Amino acid sequence: MDAELLVAHVLGVSRAGLLTRDDISEDDAARVGQLIEQRADRVPLQHLTGRAPFRYLELAVGPGVFVPRPETEQLTGWALERLTGLDGPLVVDLGSGSGAIALSIAHEHPGARVTAVERDPGAIAWTRHNAMARVAAGDTPVGVVEGDMTDPALLSELDRRVTLVVSNPPYVPDGAGVPREVADHDPPLALWGGPDGLDVVRGLLVTAARLLTPGGWLGIEHADQQGSALPALVRAHGAFTDVEDHPDLAGRPRFTTARRA
Ligand SMILES: C[S@@+](CC[C@H](N)C(=O)[O-])C[C@H]1O[C@@H](n2cnc3c(N)ncnc32)[C@H](O)[C@@H]1O
Repeated sequence: MDAELLVAHVLGVSRAGLLTRDDISEDDAARVGQLIEQRADRVPLQHLTGRAPFRYLELAVGPGVFVPRPETEQLTGWALERLTGLDGPLVVDLGSGSGAIALSIAHEHPGARVTAVERDPGAIAWTRHNAMARVAAGDTPVGVVEGDMTDPALLSELDRRVTLVVSNPPYVPDGAGVPREVADHDPPLALWGGPDGLDVVRGLLVTAARLLTPGGWLGIEHADQQGSALPALVRAHGAFTDVEDHPDLAGRPRFTTARRA
């Protein structure tokens, strides 16, 4: 499939569009050959095409930013369901990367007032680029803030006002084995979360408890192995009720949700 997508990328057609092509120029064939060699060397497909599909959007990605994953589409769908019927809800996406979650919420819930927070200067350039592209396409603008999701002063002007805090934070336990596409091409700050993978989440919970309005919603993605540990951490924090864990489409534990008490 990756080979087909690379051929389609070089020819400037969709994958289905390949069905009506029966020829390729020598130059294009040479370019496809180069890309296939890079892919065989484990460069992510999305870095080679420069694009990553996410829900209804196609985001620009490349070196310096985390490639959005299909699993995160489900967390975003859960978040959007919580906003149904709300007029201009305040939403904060902590650790926004390409902006996948924040920009999808702005796109699918027009009028939502979304703030995307990102700490990595390399990644936030991509957040800003994608946010500007979505404004040009007609979506409600998303605020992009350079900041640390564990900072006790982050977005303090929004304290107790936010309807929904959503995050796909770095959660890979230090030293865990990951494929070369991930280890060599996703930024370290997007991956590693300390000995149990939950170091950043501990700070995130404090921030979310401060920002959320009573009854406001929290959704956090996590690793397969954290389906018990993360809900336990959220319960132990004390500021949240209705703590639940949700599986992804493959049935693996994937994200934890809760409400501000
Ligand atoms: C797993 S990536 C998720 C990116 C995007 N939300 C997505 O789902 O594709 C985690 C992101 O959080 C950012 N990040 C890590 N630690 C952070 C912190 N303390 N404060 C803000 N952002 C942080 C990383 O730079 C990275 O962009």
